[in-house]
Parts: sequence; structure tokens; C-alpha cells
Amino acid sequence: MLKTAERKTAKEDADFALLKSIIKTKLGFNCEYYKDSHFRRRIDVRLRATGSSNFGDYVQVLKNDPNEYDVLLETLTVNVTNFFRNSEVYDIIEEEVFPAVIKSKSTGLNKSIKIWSAGCSIGVEAYSIAMLFHHILGNSIKRYNITITGTDIDKASLQHAQQGVYNETEMKDVRPAFIDKYFVKEGKQYHVKDELKKMTHFKSHDMISGPKMGGFDIIFCRNVTIYFEKELQEKLYMNFYNGLNENGFFVMGKTETLIGPSKDLFKSFNAKERIYAK
Ligand SMILES: C[S@@+](CC[C@H](N)C(=O)[O-])C[C@H]1O[C@@H](n2cnc3c(N)ncnc32)[C@H](O)[C@@H]1O
Repeated sequence: MLKTAERKTAKEDADFALLKSIIKTKLGFNCEYYKDSHFRRRIDVRLRATGSSNFGDYVQVLKNDPNEYDVLLETLTVNVTNFFRNSEVYDIIEEEVFPAVIKSKSTGLNKSIKIWSAGCSIGVEAYSIAMLFHHILGNSIKRYNITITGTDIDKASLQHAQQGVYNETEMKDVRPAFIDKYFVKEGKQYHVKDELKKMTHFKSHDMISGPKMGGFDIIFCRNVTIYFEKELQEKLYMNFYNGLNENGFFVMGKTETLIGPSKDLFKSFNAKERIYAK
């Protein structure tokens, strides 16, 4: 005979499993790949917000209110980001990484530079990269074909990225000279100028289950894999390695660590700032 506490735990576990399967079917979000601790913390946010006292209650909320699915997806994906996030990384990128990539292209006929911002959220990483390239290259930018591809699974974030309109808070880490040069202020909103928009495009792509992407000179995947299970991290880092051109660069988040087979393949370019070279 199960004791009351054991019955309660068994019921909670069953409701949690049901919730995960509903999320997978309805949102296409495979919870198995995400760390359980992360997943439970994020679900708790919605439990509290909807006044649900357990997973079973929350399943009912989802059944009664289809809008809750959108809010849940936003909560699960954690879209926190800002322009030039961890500015020290961008200092190295501006002074060493971008000049190295530009130099590698300067002699050959192929002047195309391809960059991937994987897990781009509302696009500020991609636009930060675009600003730096534009700034470094100056007039000679005309000789290069720079494409920055931002991908994410969160449609609302991608829409925001495509619009390229940001508020004062989101703009706080953009250099004043860059604000003047690359944004148009309308009321309290800052609109990204066409120069940067021409260099960037955004699309829906799931780095876990989507098609492999490749041919990049630099891949940024920052503050995304931290939420994933270790085996998946290892697999994704290998995908990023394979998705890079020879001598390409991989930039991870400051609190992320390179693990698995790619660790032996990548050369450390700047260990502190989590920048690796192929
Ligand atoms: C915390 S944001 C990071 C944004 C930016 N890279 C940065 O460092 O500021 C994490 C982003 O990863 C996205 N994400 C989560 N799982 C993903 C997946 N499987 N494929 C693509 N993007 C994913 C989320 O939707 C979210 O926008």
C-alpha cells in the first residue's frame, strides 16, 4: 500500500510527465533535452502566475486558456538578452576576431563573410555584430558581402528581431556614437537603420531538431546551451564545429563550458571570453 506522501509524489510525477508531453505536442518543445531543474523553475513561474497549486491544476489552465501556451513558450525559452552583452567579449571580437576574419578574406576573390547568431532572441546580438563589422570596415564594407543569420525557436522574439525596434532599457549598452549612427529615434523607440537590416536576417530554426547549418566564418551561440542536458550540449558543440569554415570562430556564453569531442578539436583563442577557433 502506498503512503499518502508517496501517492502525492506519484501523482505529481504523472502530472509533470503529462505536462511535458502536452508541451511537446502543442509547442513542439522537447522538454527531455532541457535540464530538469531549469524546466521545473520555468514552469513554476507560470504555476505561480496562474494561481495553480500543482502541475495538474496547470494542465487544466492550459486546456481552458489556449493563450497560455504562448506565454508558457516565452517563459520556457528565456529571452533575456541585451546589446553587447558582456562587453569584454565584444572588445576581443572587435580587436582580434573580426580583423582576423576580414584579413583572411582580403586577398581572395571570396569576400563573403557568414555569421550565425544561434538562439538570437530579439536580435540584439545579431545587430551588435552588424554594428561592429560596419564600424570596423568603414567604406570598404561595400567590397564585402556580410550575412548575419539570427535563428531562434521563439516566433515572438524573431518578429521583434525583424522589426528592429528597441526601447531605452534595451539600448542601455549601445555606445552613444553607435546610437547616432545606426538608429533612428522615433518618440521613445529606437529603430535599427537599413544599413544594419541589410546585413541581417532572422529565421525560425530549432538547433536541436532542425536541419544542420554550415558554411559559417563565425558562430555565436551564447546563453542558450546552458539550459540543455550535457549530452545534447556535446552534440551541439560538434554541430557548431562542423558548421564552421576552416579557421572559423565559435563564441559561447561567459558561463558556458566547452565539453565533449569538439573540446579536442577546437583551439582556444581566448579561454576567458570563451572564444574558440577551428
Ligand atoms: C537567453 S537567450 C540568449 C540570447 C543571446 N544569444 C544572448 O546571449 O543574449 C536564449 C535564446 O535561445 C533560444 N532557444 C532555446 N532553445 C532553442 C533551440 N532549441 N533552438 C534555437 N533557439 C533556442 C530561446 O528562445 C532564447 O531566445
